[in-house]
Amino acid sequence: MNTIEKIIKYDCKPEIYEKSTSPFWDDDHISKSMLQAHFDQDTEAASRNMKFISQSVQWINSVAPASSHHRILDIGCGPGIYAEKFSQLGYEVVGIDISKRSIDYAKEVSKNSHSQVQYMNANYLEIELPNNFDLITFIYCDYGALSTSDRKLILDKIYRSLNSGGKLILDVFTHHQYLNRKESSSWSSHQGSGFFRPISHLSLEHHYIYNQNVRLNQYIILDESSKVDVYRIWDTCFTKDSISKELEESGFHLNQVLSDVSGKPYKSDSNTLAVIAEKK
Ligand SMILES: C[S@@+](CC[C@H](N)C(=O)[O-])C[C@H]1O[C@@H](n2cnc3c(N)ncnc32)[C@H](O)[C@@H]1O
Repeated sequence: MNTIEKIIKYDCKPEIYEKSTSPFWDDDHISKSMLQAHFDQDTEAASRNMKFISQSVQWINSVAPASSHHRILDIGCGPGIYAEKFSQLGYEVVGIDISKRSIDYAKEVSKNSHSQVQYMNANYLEIELPNNFDLITFIYCDYGALSTSDRKLILDKIYRSLNSGGKLILDVFTHHQYLNRKESSSWSSHQGSGFFRPISHLSLEHHYIYNQNVRLNQYIILDESSKVDVYRIWDTCFTKDSISKELEESGFHLNQVLSDVSGKPYKSDSNTLAVIAEKK
């Protein structure tokens, strides 16, 4: 297939939850851009800003303190921003992330601070998670980036790796995140290095809507080498009822629903929802 044929093939609305054609988080160049994004205080592309994260850690410590929830697993820990702060509060911390670059960075920070966080570079969908945790955190709406079957898979894994009485804290986007955002297409050109490639490239971007609550940001990337890759960033939006239902189907008991993981009380028009769920 030549380049134009490939672009034509990809330039359409794919089946719901169709995967990217190449790794996204663990791509050598994209992971470099992502690592920068985690620490960029002007965008919230990969991690939220430090002020929010500090409030979030404080809130988590207040609802599940290290004295009663000693062992934490942070799923999708990125470069360890949360993990390092948890460790400073006296938790025993394990962090898992698919991005080797983020995990290497986190290990370096941990070495310098003598924090003893244990980092694992792994795809959480493909490994059996370590177990005996009192608390599992899954933060910044990564749960909603998964397909329905992968969400069930990870919730079941999380359930198995929690101790009885252990808690899961996760957040998701609601439809308010996308209010007034219609389906759209655009393209942009990048001379030299950009977010997706270290060499000049074109990006064809689509925003698609499925069943009102599922969104796709699709990026078709064509670079100087005529290579074409498609990155699909899915986002399933939830209501209080729909997130409760998925958690309960995996055996969790829902303790509390809030507006976000800094502990803001639930509001029906919040862009995110955070939940505390428990393995009884
Ligand atoms: C939106 S970022 C959130 C990072 C961190 N939780 C925070 O709030 O700062 C999502 C993280 O999940 C990781 N990730 C995505 N899919 C993954 C998978 N299948 N297995 C392990 N990590 C994954 C990414 O590499 C990225 O670091």
